[in-house]
Amino acid sequence: MINNINKSEIDTRYQDQEWPWWPLFPLYPYGRKRTIFSELIPNQIWSFEQLQGIYYVAVPIRLSVIKVSGGLMLFNPLPPTIELLNQLSELERKHGPVIDIVLPTASGLEHKISLPSLSRAFPKANLWICPGQWSFPIDLPLTWIGIPQNKTRVLFEDGLPHSDKCEWFSLGPLDIGLGRFQEVSCYHRSSNSLLVTDALVGISASPPKLFELDPTPLLFHSRESGEEPLVDSYEARIKGWRRLVLFSSFLKPAKLSIPSLLDVFSKSFKPGLRNPSAHFGIYPFNWEKGWEESASNLVGERDSLVQIAPVIERLVFPRAKDTFVSWLDKVGSCRGLKWLISSHYNAPVKFSRNQAIQLKKKINRRIWAQGEGNWTFLDWLDKKLLNFGVVPENPLKSFND
Ligand SMILES: [Fe+2]
Repeated sequence: MINNINKSEIDTRYQDQEWPWWPLFPLYPYGRKRTIFSELIPNQIWSFEQLQGIYYVAVPIRLSVIKVSGGLMLFNPLPPTIELLNQLSELERKHGPVIDIVLPTASGLEHKISLPSLSRAFPKANLWICPGQWSFPIDLPLTWIGIPQNKTRVLFEDGLPHSDKCEWFSLGPLDIGLGRFQEVSCYHRSSNSLLVTDALVGISASPPKLFELDPTPLLFHSRESGEEPLVDSYEARIKGWRRLVLFSSFLKPAKLSIPSLLDVFSKSFKPGLRNPSAHFGIYPFNWEKGWEESASNLVGERDSLVQIAPVIERLVFPRAKDTFVSWLDKVGSCRGLKWLISSHYNAPVKFSRNQAIQLKKKINRRIWAQGEGNWTFLDWLDKKLLNFGVVPENPLKSFND
């Protein structure tokens, strides 16, 4: 079933979706952030999703809103467009003001970048940030990147918000060379929901509803060559989605090859495709037979499949499996755990204590951070970074000393 979003949602005025700061983090869809709003847990947790990606390899990114004593807590900032703020005002009218904004990741630039403008939209809200914030290429002080120091508290060091209702768990810190990886996850007891940033994702076999606002990334990647027009169909959306999942999981999956420049350009600039939204027909990908099979290992047919994203496993945790597993043990033993709400892909996704145990068993049965098949490119990249001394052999060493 496609197109089940009503037309007025799609026609929301362009101005309401504009994001003027996009050049700071120039990812698709650049200056226009269409946002989809949904209630995840009735009267307790809501979600705003926007797309984010490079060359149409785009996945949903999420801001969650949690009902807490006295109002609302925002978890993981997103660009506050007029469309998003209007919907948040509706929530404030019903459930009280935004009183806390949490940036629970040290490295997640995709969330960090919108914290300053989100905090300006809610000047009375407290800001809570993950310890060890850093910026690249130059590590600037927080105030220089627009995070006001006077109302900012560091999670754990300065306390924790709503600890009567929420349990907070740190994953990391790990030394990832350029800075640190750390994220702070939140278990919201009354909704039985675990909120994470990148640690776990739940991926469905069909594209998230957000793509109904803009299916172009799916259609672009559903093709076999740059000569093919972008044609919308249910099958094309499914095919495009599974390829996007493979791209964002492995960066360069095994069944993908890059054709020669001559080949790419001989198929580009064809009539009907000479426009920026089709990237002028420039399509530098060749999908080989059997790609569907590797995609089906990453998606859940009935329920979304909960997993650690391969790119996170292979590039963040390759030498820190124990850190990940002990975090999984902790969050998996939260009393009453029922839902996972990740800042990417689908939410809420069924995730019980039993499922956490099964996930740990699955991880322990297979090779961690492997280097074969789909993992070849990630493996190559990690080894290069290691050889050049960009990432350390022991990511825990600098925090143990
Ligand atoms: Fe992320």
